Amino acid sequence: MIINGGRPLRGEVTVSGAKNAVLALLSATVLAKDTCRIDNLPNISDVSIMLHILHQLGADVKRVGRHAVEINTRYFNSGVVPHELTKHFRASYYLLGALFGRFGHARVAMPGGCDFGVRPIDQHIRGFELLGASVSFEENAVIALKSEQPSGAPVYLDMASVGATINIMLAAVRARGVTIIENAAKEPHVVDLANFLNSMGADVRGAGTDVVKIHGVRELHGCDYATIPDQIEAGTYMAAAAATGGEVLIRNVIPKHMESITAKLLECGVTVEEFDDSILVAAPHRLQRCKIKTQPHPGFPTDMQPQFGALLATAEGTSIISEGIYDNRFRYMEQLVRMGGDIKVDGKVAVIEGVDHLKGAPVKAYDLRAGAAMVIAGLMAQGTTEIEDIEYIDRGYEDIVGKLAELGAEIRLMPVVDAIRDVKVAN
Ligand code: EPU
Repeated sequence: MIINGGRPLRGEVTVSGAKNAVLALLSATVLAKDTCRIDNLPNISDVSIMLHILHQLGADVKRVGRHAVEINTRYFNSGVVPHELTKHFRASYYLLGALFGRFGHARVAMPGGCDFGVRPIDQHIRGFELLGASVSFEENAVIALKSEQPSGAPVYLDMASVGATINIMLAAVRARGVTIIENAAKEPHVVDLANFLNSMGADVRGAGTDVVKIHGVRELHGCDYATIPDQIEAGTYMAAAAATGGEVLIRNVIPKHMESITAKLLECGVTVEEFDDSILVAAPHRLQRCKIKTQPHPGFPTDMQPQFGALLATAEGTSIISEGIYDNRFRYMEQLVRMGGDIKVDGKVAVIEGVDHLKGAPVKAYDLRAGAAMVIAGLMAQGTTEIEDIEYIDRGYEDIVGKLAELGAEIRLMPVVDAIRDVKVAN
């Protein structure tokens, strides 16, 4: 991806459906022997891979235009889901909860995932065990769950894990009895999954608070459902508009989901105006320093940390970012330093001295959000930035080049012979 920076973004951009919600919804279609239609489907590579996995396992998958899909999993194969299919991204582990929920057994290889340090799944496993699964680890990194009949149970999570909350919900909706998840994650995609499951006939209450209560039902049915807008894609365009000193109306957002991001932009001196389902961001002056600590929702999301790392590189004064979720999510900072940033990282804390401007340079996208940070840095920088390994960015941002070009960015893809392009997709 080639970006000639220094142009303020101006105009309107429409946000797509939420990646981390839709991956859970697509997995949940396994729970009914009926057709589910999902609208506001983002056209991103993670979705294509999930649809491919479902198809490989016997689902009837019909794309309806660019932004909808109909899935029927009546003839789904409950056999092993091999590493070949799960290695691409983290959300493949939702098939454990979904298959266990439907068949009472599941064999799914360990998920892939962006490398932010160790990412255990002990909370998922313990949750499955509490619901009656006997868990074993087989050859080729396959996790096997088996039970006569999954049964509801109280599950206390040691940390408010998004993945564990979603997986336990998937496993519990058809279990016998009641499951209560304490210290549940409250992210918007947890709420979206609960709404989707309830449209399928499930009885899930309390999603969005730290206690989720699930009364198991015998059967689920098909439904029509539209995915929520992507909080992180919206936040990325808000950050890009602010970082370039532009003015952008961001459409198809839920302003309530954006509060922690909006609060930090206001602290930096950006003007943010909220409407029913859009947000106007304008940054006529140089941005000011701020302090950020990433936390579970409704705290500032770790998935917006790299984009703000880029934005703060030229904000006046000393900014501090503390990463509260992952051990190792600052690798991208060395790329900002290559572009002229003055940044010191010590473990989970980064100290950023705002410089006058960044300078274009060849850089890498280390992962999805680090890639988004490189795009923002490139848009801010004087001169040309060339970003390598952009397949990571395609995983979570629909047509980012087209959307930014519409906003006046000078951005393009350099053609690469398909055959030599690495398929390095992984979340
Ligand atoms: N954790 C454990 N044990 C567990 C589960 C989690 O120790 O059993 C730890 C993790 O190691 C991590 C923290 O708890 O330090 C949070 O992990 P969580 O389970 O909440 O994250 P996740 O489900 O693996 C999802 C998103 C990530 C996002 C995080 C945090 C999906 C597919 N992925 O991951 O999204 O960073 O929640 O909000 O929903 C992205 O979109 O770029 C992305 C990485």
